[in-house]
Amino acid sequence: MGEIVRLQKYIAMSGYASRRAAETLIEEGRVSVNGKKITEQGVKIEIGADNVSIDGKPVKIKNKKYYIMLNKPVGYVSTAKDQFDRPTVVDIIKKDLDDVRIFPVGRLDYDTEGLLLLTNDGDFTYRVTHPKFHMDKTYIVTIKGGITISGINKIRRGVYIDDGFKTSPAEAEILDAVDGHTFIKITIHEGKNRQVRKMFDAVGCKVVGLKRIKIGTVELGNLPLGRWRHLTSHEVSYLMNS
Ligand code: URA
Repeated sequence: MGEIVRLQKYIAMSGYASRRAAETLIEEGRVSVNGKKITEQGVKIEIGADNVSIDGKPVKIKNKKYYIMLNKPVGYVSTAKDQFDRPTVVDIIKKDLDDVRIFPVGRLDYDTEGLLLLTNDGDFTYRVTHPKFHMDKTYIVTIKGGITISGINKIRRGVYIDDGFKTSPAEAEILDAVDGHTFIKITIHEGKNRQVRKMFDAVGCKVVGLKRIKIGTVELGNLPLGRWRHLTSHEVSYLMNS
């Protein structure tokens, strides 16, 4: 069974008109469902099963794919809906793209910020998140205090997290140390739950800030916090094929 939506939403999803304009079309008696003219608002239809037409011409939902990069702020969950009603990353996109159903590609923790991808293309999600494709992910980590050379070398070689799982070799580089905090750039090749935090925990360092800046070669760049943009076709094909 297809998704059930209100008629005006269906028309907006098709790209034919906004919801408001769709309501006017309905009011004007220009919309039919399965050959029957509809003039009242709120009628529900099943996508794929019911035939909608405007002025006698069929209106179909286009299968448009969306590939989005968001600079996620701290304080948002990486799901479409949260069981505790906290704000979600999808809420941010929905403000601008009301009728599009998109989902995060993998996740960033509630307290992590930075580059998060969203899409409605399941193949794309698979390519970017499946461990067998080893997609590199780069983060800027802020730790309280400092880190020893031996600590950073352990992180580079791999540390034990999660009951005996050893992380694969990572690139790690100390960028700066300011006001009792140290900033480290790290690239990892897996995506275990809270992996970066656990890696630093394993060498006795407390992560107080975490930001993802890159997935493969696709960079967050200067996209402002809380803003999003469409990926370029070059970025999409790189992520699909690398
Ligand atoms: N590693 C973490 O610890 N948290 C994230 O959100 C991503 C990677």
